[in-house]
Amino acid sequence: MATKDVLRAHDLQAGYGSAQVLFGAGLRVGAGEAVALLGRNGMGKSTLIRSILGFTRVTGGRVEVNGRDVTGWPSHRVARAGIGWVPEGRQIFASLTVHENLMVSARLARRQGLWSLDRIHSMFPRLKERERNFGNQLSGGEQQMLAIARALLTQPALLVLDEATEGLAPLVRQDIWRTLMTVKAQGQSVLVVDRDLEALARVCDRFTVLERGRVAREGEVSELVSDRQAIERFLSV
Ligand SMILES: Nc1ncnc2c1ncn2[C@@H]1O[C@H](COP(=O)(O)OP(=O)(O)OP(=O)(O)O)[C@@H](O)[C@H]1O
Ligand SMILES: [Mg+2]
Repeated sequence: MATKDVLRAHDLQAGYGSAQVLFGAGLRVGAGEAVALLGRNGMGKSTLIRSILGFTRVTGGRVEVNGRDVTGWPSHRVARAGIGWVPEGRQIFASLTVHENLMVSARLARRQGLWSLDRIHSMFPRLKERERNFGNQLSGGEQQMLAIARALLTQPALLVLDEATEGLAPLVRQDIWRTLMTVKAQGQSVLVVDRDLEALARVCDRFTVLERGRVAREGEVSELVSDRQAIERFLSV
């Protein structure tokens, strides 16, 4: 099974200036698997993701995407190795239309894949309706859908979402979780940071908990239910 991992991050050391944040954190995502990354505020979840993606420099450890050592690669090359990223804060192009935003990503994709523009439109009918609107004319939920759609159009082996449902209306959140189910059902992998343990337990297979830049616990998502108290200890303030 080990060779089928889409992502392996091992013993990562990283931080900002002289402030070290990751002290040997790592995680593994198998092909077709969905993994939840958990931990209280400031424990290093986003830093781990940024280190994997090449946005934060790592000073130790190793990142492999589809068996390839991508440690220290610039972010655009890591993305091309097969990772689609939905950043905290969405970062869509405000002065481009929805359609143009999507086309930027579609052009970045080097391979034909499971996600066509038509498929994106049937998954997110709102994006079709808003096709001619500019990024800055969208609601928060529409922006988030656009951010996810863009990531999918790069045909990633692994889709990474950092707090994608944060601050959104319940119906929009449901749409996002449904999308992740679809992504997973067709064999793409997912790595997701979110606070909604129930939704995570439905979508994900395994979880990793970070505490002060280290892995404090890993397991099957069934443990989020069966051993909820122990896990909530890691998550509550
Ligand atoms: N750009 C930055 N410059 C300096 N310090 C940073 C930067 N980004 C994060 N940090 C610090 O690194 C630590 C880990 O932050 P990180 O954002 O990775 O945590 P997180 O687990 O994603 O938290 P949250 O749940 O709040 O998103 C925190 O102490 C934070 O203040
Ligand atoms: Mg974060």
